[in-house]
Order: sequence, then C-alpha cells, then structure tokens
Amino acid sequence: MSKLFPPHNIIRKNELDSTNNHALKLIQEASPSHGTVVLTVNQTKGRGQRKNYWESEGGKNLTISLILRPEFLPIHLQFGISKVISLGVADFLGRYTDNISIKWPNDIYVGEKKIAGILIEHSIMGSILSTSVCGIGLNINQREFLSDAPNPVSLALLCDKEFDLEECLTQLLEAIETRYQQLEEGQPELLDQEYLKILYRKEGYYPYEDANGRFEARIAGISPIGQFVLETREGDERTYNFKEVKFL
Ligand code: BTN
Repeated sequence: MSKLFPPHNIIRKNELDSTNNHALKLIQEASPSHGTVVLTVNQTKGRGQRKNYWESEGGKNLTISLILRPEFLPIHLQFGISKVISLGVADFLGRYTDNISIKWPNDIYVGEKKIAGILIEHSIMGSILSTSVCGIGLNINQREFLSDAPNPVSLALLCDKEFDLEECLTQLLEAIETRYQQLEEGQPELLDQEYLKILYRKEGYYPYEDANGRFEARIAGISPIGQFVLETREGDERTYNFKEVKFL
C-alpha cells in the first residue's frame, strides 16, 4: 500500500504560472516521488479543461498539483484516477456543506455552482501509467469572481466564514489518500458506485448537445473506461468521450 500521508512532500512556491506546468517540469528534471504536491499561493496562468483559464485570487484558495505514480493501474483504467481525485475533493467538501455533485468527468459542484476544477495529465510509458499530475483548483476563501467562469462558488460564500487553508490542505490530501488506497487495494467497484451515486444530474432527463444537435437524455452510466453513457427519451444509448457532449 502506498502511503501518501503523512508525510507529504509539499513544494511551496509563492507564485507560479501553473502548478501543473511546474509538476510536469519536475517530472522531466527531478523525478519527484509518488505523493509530491506542488502548491502555489498565486497562480497566474491556471490551466483549465477545454483550454480555459482557471481563476484563483492569490492567497485565497487551494491551487495544487498532486504527482502520482499509479504504476499498478492498467492504462485503460486510468479514469480510476479521476474518480479518486473527484471523490476525494467531494469527501473533503462533505465536511462543510451538502448538495455536492460531480459533473462528469470531474467538475465539482455544490447545487448548480462550481466549487472546484480538476485537470489530470497522465504520462504513459509502454503499457504503464507512469505519472499522473492531478491539478486541483478548490475555491475556499474567494468571494468575488471576475472571469466569465459559469457560476463559481467558494466554501466562504457557502458557509459565510473564512477557512484556514493549511487545515483544508491537510484534510483534502487525507481524503484523496483514502480514495487512492481504495483503488490500489482493488476496491474499484466501491469507487464506481460512489462516483455514480454523486453524479450531477444522476436522475431524470436533461438537455444535452452533441455534434448532431440538441436532445434530451438521462444518464445511463459510465463505461469502464470513463465514457459518459446517455439514454435519450427515445431509448437510444449514446456513449461520449470528454468534449463530445455538452450539458445545456
Ligand atoms: C477546470 O477547467 O475545471 C479545471 C481547472 C483546474 C485548475 C487547477 S488549479 C491547479 C492546477 N494547475 C493548473 O494550471 N490547473 C489546475
């Protein structure tokens, strides 16, 4: 069993363009160990999914990248890492708020608002997942958002109090470690069930859009490789990779 916590190797930088960029550079240059965390107080060019910018006011939030070496995980099961990270973030948030969901594949929502974003970048060697850089932007104390990010929210806005970032970091890493151990110890079904259980729009029909236009569908499941499976009102099953379908 790999132990991420304690002690974490935390690399702290006052300012970085992107913790994911820094982590990727470290992997090239310094062979950081499994569980290394890159953290910055002020991230100036945070990268998001779909080439978006991740807004985070300096000193207010957690912007970190966790470097994992999940060599035990077959490449086709790499979505397991996404489940580990998103469930870990959701577990951490569950200490302070309810109504948490994961919008496939790994946006973290509270109600209709986004509180955390995750950007995972794997590197593969032969048939092995050699490293996963798991970037997490978690809104903690920021109360005003300036970018056009849709519906951002933070813990401070939800709970109307300030949070200690160090304490949040410790709790977050512990929560992720627990989930990672479930994956590593061969309990992927547990992760599958819990991921499904808290999926955003898990029940009922909603509008979506794919390359052929708009349609209404309900979530039928997640495929073993992490694809999003929808069932239309007409009963057709459609399977999507990331970016192939939009939530409307
Ligand atoms: C998203 O678009 O939802 C993903 C956002 C991911 C942001 C985090 S902040 C820490 C890490 N470093 C980055 O440049 N991006 C991720």
